[in-house]
Amino acid sequence: MAEELEIVDLQEHIQELFKTEKYRRRIAQMAVAGERTLIVDFEDVVVFDQELAKDLVENPDEWLKPAKNAAYAQLCIEDAEYAEKVETRTEEVAVGIVRLLETARLRKLGSDHIGKLVMVEGIVVRATPVRPMVMQAVFRCKRCGEMTPVSQTGPFLRAPFQCANPTCRTKGPFDFIQEESTFIDSQELRIQERPEDLPPGQLPRTLNVKIVGSEIVDMARPGDHISTVGIVRAVAPTLPTVGKLRAFILHLDANSIRVLGKEPETILPSPEEEEKILKLSKDPWIHRKIMNSVAPSIYGYSRVKEAIMYLLFGGVPKTLPDITIRGELNVLLIGDPGTAKSQLLQYVSRIAPRGLYTSGRGTTAAGLTAAVLRERRGGMTLEAGALVLADKGIACIDEMDKMRKEDRVAIHEAMEQHTVSVAKGGIVATLNARTAILAAANPALGRYEPHRTVAENISLPVTILSRFDLIFVLRDVPEKETDSKMSEHILEIHRKGLSPVEPPIPTDLLRKYISYAKAIKPVLTKPALQRLGDFYLAMRSASETEDSPVAITARQLESLVRTSEARARSALRREILAEDAEAAIAIMKKSLEEVGIDVTSSQIDIDLIMTGKPKSLRDRLQTILSTIMAMERETGLVEKVALLNELETTYNIPQGEAERLIGQLLREGTIYSPRDGYIKKT
Ligand SMILES: Nc1ncnc2c1ncn2[C@@H]1O[C@H](COP(=O)(O)OP(=O)(O)O)[C@@H](O)[C@H]1O
Ligand SMILES: [Mg+2]
Ligand SMILES: [Zn+2]
Repeated sequence: MAEELEIVDLQEHIQELFKTEKYRRRIAQMAVAGERTLIVDFEDVVVFDQELAKDLVENPDEWLKPAKNAAYAQLCIEDAEYAEKVETRTEEVAVGIVRLLETARLRKLGSDHIGKLVMVEGIVVRATPVRPMVMQAVFRCKRCGEMTPVSQTGPFLRAPFQCANPTCRTKGPFDFIQEESTFIDSQELRIQERPEDLPPGQLPRTLNVKIVGSEIVDMARPGDHISTVGIVRAVAPTLPTVGKLRAFILHLDANSIRVLGKEPETILPSPEEEEKILKLSKDPWIHRKIMNSVAPSIYGYSRVKEAIMYLLFGGVPKTLPDITIRGELNVLLIGDPGTAKSQLLQYVSRIAPRGLYTSGRGTTAAGLTAAVLRERRGGMTLEAGALVLADKGIACIDEMDKMRKEDRVAIHEAMEQHTVSVAKGGIVATLNARTAILAAANPALGRYEPHRTVAENISLPVTILSRFDLIFVLRDVPEKETDSKMSEHILEIHRKGLSPVEPPIPTDLLRKYISYAKAIKPVLTKPALQRLGDFYLAMRSASETEDSPVAITARQLESLVRTSEARARSALRREILAEDAEAAIAIMKKSLEEVGIDVTSSQIDIDLIMTGKPKSLRDRLQTILSTIMAMERETGLVEKVALLNELETTYNIPQGEAERLIGQLLREGTIYSPRDGYIKKT
């Protein structure tokens, strides 16, 4: 009895808070919007009554029930008609607590927190679809037909102990009657520590969040950053036949969820820092300074570091009514083993706001894009992969050539449209992946073979290669002068344990500089536009003559714009000048030369990336194919020796080369060998 009284007191006391101006307005607003959840700022509770606030955190279970009643009582006063309507529904009025005074660190949650109200932040990595959960189950007695309602708690559906009919009282069997039972929407999320909260070198921890109530389910998707307030619960997992385990697993029963802004928090610079940043941006050598501040311990690679600079700053995404064009750059490094690719990637993931380092396989079952997983208990859940988790950041993907089969398909959309679509196992969703990509890949043959094409050198399909704005080849070729300088550099690091080159801009300041620059949206000036347009047209017209390769496509033009924007941004300029356009053209040419140079005709040949074959090679393959077809018409099967002779005499293709190309056509499956020494077109 005494306890009852206390609860009524608590309810009345809380209602006093709801009688204040602010909450009366909120409650009236609920009625207008047709909502059932009253959002309560924790700070208001603290101001209203500090003891009451403390009680809320310590005993949330005892607090929230009277709080709901208080909210309902006040709603009856503010809008009796609406209150009546709410009452007849299956769900009642809810109270959602937001903005606790402190955020609990996910990895610090432990036994001390069980039963307490906490607030945690994290990225949603998994989400189940919304599932109806039965709150009050109605069972019909198989013997007398009596309906017995049973309120449900806990994870399993409970049948009545006995029939409610006093003359029957049988202990079953019963039928579950769905139409008579009441349901409420539920969902389960898994959140993971945000990369920015992660202590260096630690694996991110995760926490399951259970959500009940139609107004808070389906608010967050995988990849979203959320702040959630809820009660920490501990449940002992049950092992079949063995029983419950002694070690409990923590989860959170969510009370409120807020989706946080996706922008990585701009670490606001102090006034002194802002002054430094602005002064730096005026430096005529600013680009060189930034480049030289990228991974100073790694020797050389100035073009790669320049590309990384553009990647860090990024271009401006454009959202048109019908399409969106990505602003972020994608850069690929193909290189021999031991050329510091992994080191560069790790560096970038550390310096970039919201950087993420992963291997091509990804670190979870979801890989690089996303996956629909079957849970142990049978349901389906959607899990976000690396590109979704790095939304609005930079994903550094090492050994990209080793990615999952599923990712090879899904990554095309992620790289160009910046979304990941999933339609599988009853889950249909589109997740955001507005991610810049810095990828590394090892040559398929162990070492980069300069006389082969890029596509031959790397086991990634050309459709993926063509989505990289810039591609560089890092080769490990013994060369006396650079070798001695590099070994000096590396030995110096080992001797001092420090980088022999001080970065011109300290890493901490550089990170702030980048954050600061990201707010700028540079626009093309006339002269810059002119340069880019001229370059594009010149390259296109060079390819107009029938037999020259298509040099450049609209994809490259967009890459040039992005790169120019990034360059203007890195000097904190709002205008893209001709010099930015020039620099963008220069680095693109360099990249094209490295990968696209047609070794036979020495012409830049974008077809190499686009189709995986240079024009001259395609011509030759075409010649071989048409010769085969012509000979087939005469003899049926084509004798290989005869073909090689014909190619050498009529077309001047040396036998060795012809052998190699025929081998390639055989591998591709364009031709086949029905018996030894003979070939036929498929
Ligand atoms: N240009 C360089 N400057 C400094 N160190 C280098 C350079 N090239 C290679 N190294 C060193 O060689 C080692 C191998 O680098 P790693 O990043 O693992 O290569 P990869 O991923 O390309 O196989 C690292 O310790 C790296 O520091
Ligand atoms: Mg490596
Ligand atoms: Zn009965």
